[in-house]
Amino acid sequence: MNNKTLPLLSLTMAVGLVGCGSEPTTSSVSFSQEVKPILEQNCSDCHQSGGKGAEKSGLVLADHGAIMEGTRLGPVVQPGSAISSTLYLAVAGKTHPTIQMPHGKQKLSEQQVATIETWIDQGARNN
Ligand code: HEC
Repeated sequence: MNNKTLPLLSLTMAVGLVGCGSEPTTSSVSFSQEVKPILEQNCSDCHQSGGKGAEKSGLVLADHGAIMEGTRLGPVVQPGSAISSTLYLAVAGKTHPTIQMPHGKQKLSEQQVATIETWIDQGARNN
C-alpha cells in the first residue's frame, strides 16, 4: 500500500470543507418589513412577557432590542453569523429537537428561515 495517498486525501477534504462556506450576497433584508412579521406571527404568543417561552428562557421577541438581549443565558443572535446564532439554528431545525422553534407549531417555511439567516448574516440590523 502506498502510504503517501492518505495525507494527500485529507488535505483535499480540508480544502473542500473550507471552500463551501460563503453564499453570494442577496439583497438587503429589512428587520421591520420582513423579519419582525415572521416573529410576530410564529413566536410572539410564547416569546412576549407572560408567554411560556419568555417565562422559561427570558427570551422576548417583541422588538429588536429585546431580541438582541437574548435569553437569561445570553445572546441568541451573533450579528454577521447565522450559523453561530441559536435563534437561527432553532428555526432551521439544527438544534436538539427539544429546542426546535416554534415549539409544537408548524415549522417556518424554507423562505422564512432563509430570510432570518440572511438578516443575521447581514449584521442583524434594526433596519
Ligand atoms: C409554543 C410556545 C413557543 C413558541 C411558539 C416559540 N417558542 Fe421559542 N421557546 C419556548 C420555550 C418554552 C423555550 C424555553 C426552552 C425550552 O424549551 O426549555 C423557548 C426558547 C427559545 C430559544 C432559546 C433556546 C435556548 O435554549 O437557547 C430561542 C432562540 C427561541 N425559543 C426562538 C423562538 C423563535 C424564533 C420562535 C418563532 C419562530 C419561537 N421560539 C416560538 C416556547 C416557544
